[in-house]
Amino acid sequence: MHLKNDLLIRAAKGQMTERKPVWLMRQAGRILPEYRAVRERLSGFIELVKTPELAAEVTLQPVDILGVDAAIIFSDILVIPEAMGLPYEMIEKKGPFFPKTIQSADDILRLKQAEPDDLAYVLEAIRLTKTALNGRVPLIGFAGAPWTIFSYMVEGSGSKTFSKARAMLYTEPDMAHSLLQLITESTIHYLKAQIKAGADLVQVFDSWAGILPKEHYEAFALPYIRQICEAIKATPLTVFAKGAYFSRAALAALDCEVIGLDWNMDIAESRAIIGKDKTLQGNLDPAVLYGSFSEIKKATETMLDRFGPGRHIVNLGHGVYPDIQPDKVRCFIETVKEYGQPSHAS
Ligand code: CP3
Repeated sequence: MHLKNDLLIRAAKGQMTERKPVWLMRQAGRILPEYRAVRERLSGFIELVKTPELAAEVTLQPVDILGVDAAIIFSDILVIPEAMGLPYEMIEKKGPFFPKTIQSADDILRLKQAEPDDLAYVLEAIRLTKTALNGRVPLIGFAGAPWTIFSYMVEGSGSKTFSKARAMLYTEPDMAHSLLQLITESTIHYLKAQIKAGADLVQVFDSWAGILPKEHYEAFALPYIRQICEAIKATPLTVFAKGAYFSRAALAALDCEVIGLDWNMDIAESRAIIGKDKTLQGNLDPAVLYGSFSEIKKATETMLDRFGPGRHIVNLGHGVYPDIQPDKVRCFIETVKEYGQPSHAS
């Protein structure tokens, strides 16, 4: 379908744009009262994820209400472990919880490769969203990076250290590789199915990249992201490896169009390491949106100045925090639109 606003896609490919596209990670979620209203009527987060009509409805909300230049399909990275045979729960105010976790080679043998059919509810949500968007803005599909998915499957919940997951890399490296490979194959099939269903760009979230030492990141995380990059050819691909400042040169060598920067990564230094052949995405500190409107405007303009006219998709350096006021998010978006700086092809 023809896209009326294709700024995101052109910026991802390094083509000239009249102004930079802007969207926010976690834009479809608790920042919007309209989201919370839909969510309150249901048994929980998972029911929302598994009801395509409602997932599509909340995917569209930030496009209508905030004026972002892209929609991101409402789902979660944890649908992949579930499709592999490891179901999750989402505990109110606490986060994900896996009643069973992966501790042994036998546990891995009991898993299966996820097939697109296991994730039919996400694919249906994508199709419904594409129809409803009618080309207004591109739709972003996504998946967790293998290392981040592995972390949850071994740890069983969020954690400050992910010490169980990290321990396995030292104690059972072969086992870790076999699980990472199974996740990778599941993810490749899943992303290809999302693209077939209508996703215009896909993003891989490596949220826990930053807890690994460089050697482990390059042994246990990057090779699997590389496989994904090599398999996905039909749309642009974004790799967001939060905290992996130490591997920016290796990330730059991936066959992907866009690299996400978190707010700790220096913009000029990142551009120098990554080079001109990639679009950079990011990277305003999400906490800036707690500030006043004038502070948000100033910080956003400073960020835009620092990125300059090169290939750039504007975003925060991580997901928007759920207690941010929608007006503050709108101020960020409006500032980008008013700044109006063209982004050049490299
Ligand atoms: O970005 C979007 O707007 C699309 C939706 C989206 C969600 N999760 C919805 C969600 C996306 C892209 C994700 C990705 C995701 N999920 C990541 C990677 C991005 C990141 O933030 O690092 C991770 C690590 C997860 C796992 C996850 N899901 C956690 C740790 C939590 C609990 C913490 C939290 O933010 O509440 C979730 C729950 C979740 N996923 C919610 C939403 C809107 C909140 C639950 C609710 O509404 O009840």
